[in-house]
Amino acid sequence: MKYDMEFFEHHWMPFTSNRDFKSDPRMVVRGEGVYLYSHEDERILDGSSGMFCCAAGHSRPEIAEAVYSQLKELSYVAPFQLAQPLSFELARRIAALTPAGLDHVFFGNSGSEAVETAVKIAYAYHYARGEGQRHRFVSRERAYHGVNLAGVSLSGMMKNRQAFGPGLPGVVHMRHTWLPENRFVKGQPETGMELAEDLERLAQQLGPDTIAACIVEPVAGSTGCLVPPKGYLDRLREICDGHGIVLIFDEVICGFGRLGTAFGADAFGVIPDIMTMAKALTNAAQPMGAVAVSNKIHGMITASAVDGAIELFHGYTCSAHPAACAAGIATLDIFEKEKLIERAADLSGYFLEQIFALSDIAMITDIRGYGLFAGFDLEPGEAPGVRGLDFQKRLYRNGLHLKMTGDAGLVAPPLISEKRHIDRLCDILRRTLAEY
Ligand SMILES: Cc1ncc(COP(=O)(O)O)c(C=O)c1O
Repeated sequence: MKYDMEFFEHHWMPFTSNRDFKSDPRMVVRGEGVYLYSHEDERILDGSSGMFCCAAGHSRPEIAEAVYSQLKELSYVAPFQLAQPLSFELARRIAALTPAGLDHVFFGNSGSEAVETAVKIAYAYHYARGEGQRHRFVSRERAYHGVNLAGVSLSGMMKNRQAFGPGLPGVVHMRHTWLPENRFVKGQPETGMELAEDLERLAQQLGPDTIAACIVEPVAGSTGCLVPPKGYLDRLREICDGHGIVLIFDEVICGFGRLGTAFGADAFGVIPDIMTMAKALTNAAQPMGAVAVSNKIHGMITASAVDGAIELFHGYTCSAHPAACAAGIATLDIFEKEKLIERAADLSGYFLEQIFALSDIAMITDIRGYGLFAGFDLEPGEAPGVRGLDFQKRLYRNGLHLKMTGDAGLVAPPLISEKRHIDRLCDILRRTLAEY
């Protein structure tokens, strides 16, 4: 099918060079398993699980059927002071996967909303325990925490912040964990743990009792798969414990098997107080985000309200939407039945080996990876990101979808992938790089 320019007029696409796209559209009309199909019926291997979300592969009938039956039975219930059973069922299933002690789940509609919710829960927790002066948040350079204003303020990506005003007051950033000496290190780098001391320095500079929370992605995802140095997350945990700071892991990418474990917390053996999640939770078949909260924080906030009062003044019209809950439960059923987390762990060694084999290509200046997730940097072109976009378009024409952030490529195949898909992915990467 061909589209004329008029067809493209009205949809303002997110994070897209709209004018460029409309002159050279990349339209996807169908998905199945690890493949997408373009409007020209070209088959495209999905090298990034959409955007790290279609862990169980595309268009899973089990999820579609669960959503369809739910919508026919009950398509909506006001989620304030009313409920429907699937939300409790899904929360129970999530709590069974999260580390022990993070047993309470709050639902929203996206990763960005999960981050906003986590921030508000951290504020509310300190307020409830009489420490409402804790108004600062510590984040990190090169972090991505979504696009709502708190998340943008927490993010450490200049382009995502620069046009949008001052943001949330009181946000400070630690340094990121990418170090030149750790280039081409597979898994966790041995060096760099001392970067966690930035949190201690900020606490000493600003007053530890002014800091509400420290938020990090276990592996910084969107800016290029930055794997935490050994000991780094443990040290953040220690510093938070020492100063009563809430530790939030943003698991929106890392969660649900991406690192070969249920969550990043499990991969690195560090348990946060609050965890955000989204994306693979419903296989992205329905929009949903969620926040898992420790019993301690949940208990403090709920106990601080008088009987009959609302405990947390927060929620969305579509919190715990029945269709999203149905999709989440069906997704977790697939995770269990097909042992997707174990599969990711089993495939990880081969995947990383094949990806790191690309390090002989001169244009690749670094590769990082953990689990079924890898990032590589391309030598920039005339301006940052120009080569990245050009490369992404070439890959698509050569039959591979890959998420690029600037000049960094993010490889995150569906967890159902087989070795032959990894081979194909690497082959297209290599062939496309040879075009330059
Ligand atoms: C770590 C992290 N947090 C939050 C978000 C925002 O999620 P969403 O795009 O669903 O709002 C993302 C999205 O990529 C993410 O990677």
